[in-house]
Amino acid sequence: MSGFVVVGSQWGDEGKGKIVDLLTERVDIVARYGGGPNAGHTICVGERRFALHHIPSGILRENVLCVIGNGVVVDPGSLLKEITDLRAAGVRVEENLRISDRAHLILPYHRGSDIAREGGVGDGKIGTTRLGVGPAYESKAGRYGLRMTDLGDRAGLREKVGALARMVRSAAADRLAPEWDPAPEAVAAQYLEYGARLTPFIADTSRLLNERLDDGAIVLCEGAQGTMLDLDHGTYPYVTSSSSTAGGACTGLGLSPIRVDGVIGVLKAYSTRVGGGPFPTEQDNETGRSIRERGREFGSTTGRPRRCGWFDALVARYSVMINQIECLALTLFDVLDDFDEIPICVAYEHEGRRIDRLPADPTVLNLCRPVYEILPGWKTATTGARRFEDLPGRARDYVGRLESVVGCEIGVISTSPQRDGTIVRPEGRIEHWLPVRQPVRAQAR
Ligand code: IMO
Ligand code: MG
Repeated sequence: MSGFVVVGSQWGDEGKGKIVDLLTERVDIVARYGGGPNAGHTICVGERRFALHHIPSGILRENVLCVIGNGVVVDPGSLLKEITDLRAAGVRVEENLRISDRAHLILPYHRGSDIAREGGVGDGKIGTTRLGVGPAYESKAGRYGLRMTDLGDRAGLREKVGALARMVRSAAADRLAPEWDPAPEAVAAQYLEYGARLTPFIADTSRLLNERLDDGAIVLCEGAQGTMLDLDHGTYPYVTSSSSTAGGACTGLGLSPIRVDGVIGVLKAYSTRVGGGPFPTEQDNETGRSIRERGREFGSTTGRPRRCGWFDALVARYSVMINQIECLALTLFDVLDDFDEIPICVAYEHEGRRIDRLPADPTVLNLCRPVYEILPGWKTATTGARRFEDLPGRARDYVGRLESVVGCEIGVISTSPQRDGTIVRPEGRIEHWLPVRQPVRAQAR
């Protein structure tokens, strides 16, 4: 066992950061394979809270190497801020962070384009994070994007930035606001300066990862976003612009599929979604508000209130299939402590017919009515529980019912944001795959 993927199994914000943080104790390297500053992980270590956007959650462990892979789009200004904040908190960033020389860059024009599109009225709105992530991936696929390696091209950068600016402007539906449309000279100068500061971190990370794997290191591939936000497999077009599912780990890091030995899915004990798009189990009512309050469901990147609803087994089953998840981590479990009844969506009803698979068409999905199985609530505080046996019977029944409707083991249950508020079931796959060990220490070369 050497390469693992941790993947979001709903619409993002499943608490991947905490699960990755927990597992980093058992691995040598944590590598991010997709997304960009749209990701937001809040990690609590004791009293300290860290909000990470580009940098993998493993950075808080002293001897874990963190990699930002080629599949990630990087906003260098915002990445440097993360680096500075971590450094100020005494974290060993210099030694433990490497960024792919092939990762694409977000430029101000990308943000301007994202903002202009999202600001327009009409149904086309995705509800993006407005950080330029989608347009940066468009530039990548359009083959006029800039990459980390271009930051070393003193002579040619100005021209490359100018060419990119022209392409982004011509593709933008509306004019870019002036603050997001600076002169290419100014952008080139600023990005050269960013490049100089980032030089110590830039590396051929695919080679680095493959060599470390050859040496026996364990690599955890950290997904951003979630399966339902995947460009191909999510609720298109209400998705992000990269491959957030497990397959993305191979292209986004330069690893062969043969390198991946297991996939761990992370999902909440209920559902949330930020931005637009279909969400069959949404509770746009008092119940939803109560989940939002108890779960502190506000975006860590944009601060937006998240849409909240009940657990959707169709989404979970789909995610288990697409990613071949063999072990699930169930998060924010204690948020459900106070409810009298807890519904689980086990099927949809569409035009009088019961369906148990996700339709591809978002308009059809919008018309689907959830069919609920209702379980009694446990009405007991579970916050901070560390052993499965310590959960009340009805809470254990809820977990058992989820396992059977989803068809996958729930090996980890998170009962608080803190590291120790976690149940790792001893009979679960995690203990077989990643037993607590003294890892082979993999320092960056
Ligand atoms: P983490 O890693 C939740 C959503 C946005 C929007 C859609 C497209 O924290 O789980 P984008 O800016 O990516 O073009 O927006 O995707 N979205 C996320 N929602 N968590 C995330 O990341 C997200 N990243 C993007 O809200 O609906
Ligand atoms: Mg998020």
